[in-house]
Amino acid sequence: MTTKAFVIGHPINHSRSPLIHGTWLAEHGIDGSYEAIDVAPDGLPAFFERLRKGEFAGGNVTIPHKEAVFALCDEVDPLARKIGAVNTLVVRSGKVFGSNTDYLGFLGNLDAAAPGWSDGPDDAMVIGAGGAARAVLVALQRRNGGKVHILNRTLANAQALVDEIEGPFEAHGFEAFATLAPRTGILINTTSIGMHGSRFDWLDFSLLPKQALVTDIVYVPLVTPLLAEAAAHGFRTVDGLGMLLHQAVPGFEAWFGVRPAVTPELRARIEATL
Ligand code: ATR
Repeated sequence: MTTKAFVIGHPINHSRSPLIHGTWLAEHGIDGSYEAIDVAPDGLPAFFERLRKGEFAGGNVTIPHKEAVFALCDEVDPLARKIGAVNTLVVRSGKVFGSNTDYLGFLGNLDAAAPGWSDGPDDAMVIGAGGAARAVLVALQRRNGGKVHILNRTLANAQALVDEIEGPFEAHGFEAFATLAPRTGILINTTSIGMHGSRFDWLDFSLLPKQALVTDIVYVPLVTPLLAEAAAHGFRTVDGLGMLLHQAVPGFEAWFGVRPAVTPELRARIEATL
């Protein structure tokens, strides 16, 4: 019998997940499907009833449902609670389990693109304290050796996040950059300013250690102004597309029983759609 999976959102036509999972299904010759389903917020309870009846092995959840599904799942992974969002559902024996694979996508991307990135004692610098920062913080907490500094335009928002998520986190305003930069091993931009073609004018790359890694979680454009500037200064950079691809791996494995690979061919295929 065909194993079925889905991505639900509203709207859903921009999701690249069907192409990612469709590529893997074809590659492995699996009798499976992965479809994009537009579910409006008031349609979520009915959709979960379909899930409990066993129509699907599971699927992904995207905007605007990532928080609303908490109340509908039978069980939610503690890390998804910490991140504040569910992006992956797995149905087993009529029960729906929710988890968040974004932090695994963040780690998988860096491990593939910059092996050994977390081996040193350096601190990490996270710019931004919104929803996207939370998955990055949970990831760094599990792997980074040093402290994690959160730099945000509004200090109070960074402080609120630090107070809520337990871990080796410190909140700062942007003015802390100059002091913290020399101890920074990895800099991660979690804000969406790169999507709007902006950069941070206070970010002086000459203060960062030469071996620092610079990443952006935005992938449209693939090379954000921040990454372009970092590369021009000779820093290693990692773009955000790999995070999208790697976050899809655990879901595919749970639904279809095969751990898929993030290959250069898959990356090129998705890149062509950006
Ligand atoms: P999310 O992370 O939830 O997807 P976002 O709008 O991309 O949402 O990111 C929100 C984060 O980006 C916040 O940390 C926000 O800073 P404030 O807490 O001060 O609002 C930050 N952010 C958004 N636009 C910014 C800008 N133009 N300059 C600096 N920081 C910005």
